[in-house]
Amino acid sequence: MFVDRVLSGMRPTGSLHLGHYHGVLKNWVKLQHEFQCLFFVADWHALTTHYDDPEIIGQNVWDMVVDWLAAGVDPSQATLFIQSQVPEHAELHLLLSMITPLGWLERVPTYKDQQEKLTEKDLSTYGFLGYPLLQGADILIYRANRVPVGEDQVPHIEFTREIARRFNHIYGREAGFEQKAETAVKKLGVKRGKVYRELRTRYQQQGDQEALAAAHALLEEAANLSMGDRERLFGFLEGGGKMILSEPQALLTEASKMPGLDGQKMSKSYNNTITLREDAASVTKKIRTMPTDPARVRRTDPGDPDKCPVWEFHKVYSDDATRDWVQKGCRSAGIGCLECKQPVIDAVLKEQEPMRERAQLYLDDPTLVRNIIAEGSDRAHKLASETMRDVRNAMGLNYS
Ligand code: TRP
Ligand code: SF4
Repeated sequence: MFVDRVLSGMRPTGSLHLGHYHGVLKNWVKLQHEFQCLFFVADWHALTTHYDDPEIIGQNVWDMVVDWLAAGVDPSQATLFIQSQVPEHAELHLLLSMITPLGWLERVPTYKDQQEKLTEKDLSTYGFLGYPLLQGADILIYRANRVPVGEDQVPHIEFTREIARRFNHIYGREAGFEQKAETAVKKLGVKRGKVYRELRTRYQQQGDQEALAAAHALLEEAANLSMGDRERLFGFLEGGGKMILSEPQALLTEASKMPGLDGQKMSKSYNNTITLREDAASVTKKIRTMPTDPARVRRTDPGDPDKCPVWEFHKVYSDDATRDWVQKGCRSAGIGCLECKQPVIDAVLKEQEPMRERAQLYLDDPTLVRNIIAEGSDRAHKLASETMRDVRNAMGLNYS
């Protein structure tokens, strides 16, 4: 069966906070039940910008994996691994670099943006320029068709699609392709072959995506096809040559609505975060000392929730009844700010409780985490090897 495959990566650059939870991890936890999922620690990507600071890698990688597990990412549902443990990513990156025009990389918007933003670092490096290509290799090596990312990463997915297309265009053409494809259709058998042709016509004449999906399913089920013939028939569906690499789609993750303690977006660089597994006393203290509507100086002054960061937290954590209580009580000076904050404190602690519990299990026995990553990396390696065999063959590196 043709299953959707989801892949996403995260750079290990520090403890994860509630912004990551609401923005990314909750989504991963949902996706792991719906699709085949691969989630990885992008340690090489971290080195493209933090090459002079290798300590950020070591402990951060493991802390981040514990954060994922704490958030409910389930290693029996999803494959979790570390990028550098699957060196094929680097091999594919190298091979794809042969066909990547420099201009394409220079035009990716994050290249110039980040160089301007991170002025304290020299980012005019080969590695940093190649960042989107490394990301492309991450995706293409698993033939992942859905990639959950935020808005800022969409150009990287677009770039990856262009690289896949270019690769297929250069290496997917073989002498006598049409003839070979026709022969392969015959191998499907009379009945299947007929269905395949009908679906192909429907897709090519009417752009019918369902027909395309049905044809993919049919090819996946056709057990007697060789790898080469199957790829030919995938390519034949869409007109061109063999489809060696498949084009991914961005699965746009809604921007996190998680506010920070000061009302700005929650972010480590604003120093306004609550970390995923922060201890209860510290969470309580942080929320109790959060700024409120500056116009509410005395308890008897009425306030305006729209001017208060605490209200932003109520939008994330409170039900209608509580929000109503806040609106009325704040505007009439009927409640005090500490009183108003209590339901937020309770809700955050309640959300974190299962995370702290799950994390404890892994902190008590770190070998569990090592094993999860070892198994995940092993599984990822097997999938990556399949693609690499095809890529090497296509590029003439076939020595077996
Ligand atoms: N560039 C991504 C980020 O900064 C991380 C990443 C690396 C990634 N490789 C990936 C995300 C592959 C999705 C797929 O968030
Ligand atoms: Fe903010 Fe609540 Fe105080 Fe109003 S009562 S200012 S919403 S903390």
